[in-house]
Amino acid sequence: MKKIAVLTSGGDAPGMNACLRAVVRTAMYHKLEVVGFKHGYEGLINDEHINLNHKSVANIIQRGGTILKTARSARFMTDEGIKQAADNLKKHGVEGLVAIGGDGTFRGAIALSKITPIAIIGCPGTIDNDLGGTDFTIGYDTAINTVVEAVDKIRDTAESHDRVFIVEVMGRDAGLIALRSGIGSGAEAILIPETKNDLPRLMERLKKSRKDKGSKIIIVAEGDESGGAYKVADEIKKNFPLFDIRISILGHIQRGGSPSCMERVNASTMGYSAVTGLLSGQKNVMVGIVNKVVVYTDFKKAVKHHEGLNENMIKMMEILSV
Ligand code: F6P
Repeated sequence: MKKIAVLTSGGDAPGMNACLRAVVRTAMYHKLEVVGFKHGYEGLINDEHINLNHKSVANIIQRGGTILKTARSARFMTDEGIKQAADNLKKHGVEGLVAIGGDGTFRGAIALSKITPIAIIGCPGTIDNDLGGTDFTIGYDTAINTVVEAVDKIRDTAESHDRVFIVEVMGRDAGLIALRSGIGSGAEAILIPETKNDLPRLMERLKKSRKDKGSKIIIVAEGDESGGAYKVADEIKKNFPLFDIRISILGHIQRGGSPSCMERVNASTMGYSAVTGLLSGQKNVMVGIVNKVVVYTDFKKAVKHHEGLNENMIKMMEILSV
């Protein structure tokens, strides 16, 4: 192998830059040329390429976002788009591609792998942590720390005014951000897409809650069946008209910011292992870290196959936050 390509795709996530840095520097160490495609698959279709070297990735390990830029490409979901992307890789003499992104990125990689012999390796970059084959995705640790920091601040007001705060966090298909940040911030309840009847259960929980407790924090994942923070607030108001309720939707602050140390180390390990994996013949797999060991998982198993939620963690949260 003489030349590889790299791109970041889908929603940006803190740690993507650390991963990119590791890909480029590991490739340089092994005397590989590296071409970067900007704006993910969209840029691959448009041939938006730049040559990358040691210097191109200097001083980025601490930066959020992605210096390669990213996009959610609708054209890459068409046969013509995928063909154009494959042709561009061939034109540049690329023999291996590292795609840093989430579920959509790896579905795209599966489609691309059907029409090109180029070896593709994925690095899991998404704040949602909703992939199989890895304990943590790049961006998740930083995102949950961002949420916890925000909720700590919100709690100051909640506690001072004896208010109920509904905090909506990201995760349209997965409640893993809500679950961990909920436990970490001592939330009274969490509502997540993986569990059913969340609203009636919440009402029951509120009815039974300690009467001497003035403030409450309820974390809702954006993809929960309740329909989000406003719907949850309406339902609580109907059942508990005396509650003083406020809503806070954290939104994209969860995707930004400097990656945590854990994130940087995991992202570096994954970027490094993507390149060493390519060199040792891996293809059409995602790099992950499971129980501290680097593993390669077939894209088909990685997509939307997160381990689901540990029911014990939900139970623990309910016991601890009385
Ligand atoms: O997949 C990451 C994520 O942040 C989800 O949690 C969220 O639903 C989505 O991206 C938002 O995407 P966009 O920034 O394109 O609106």
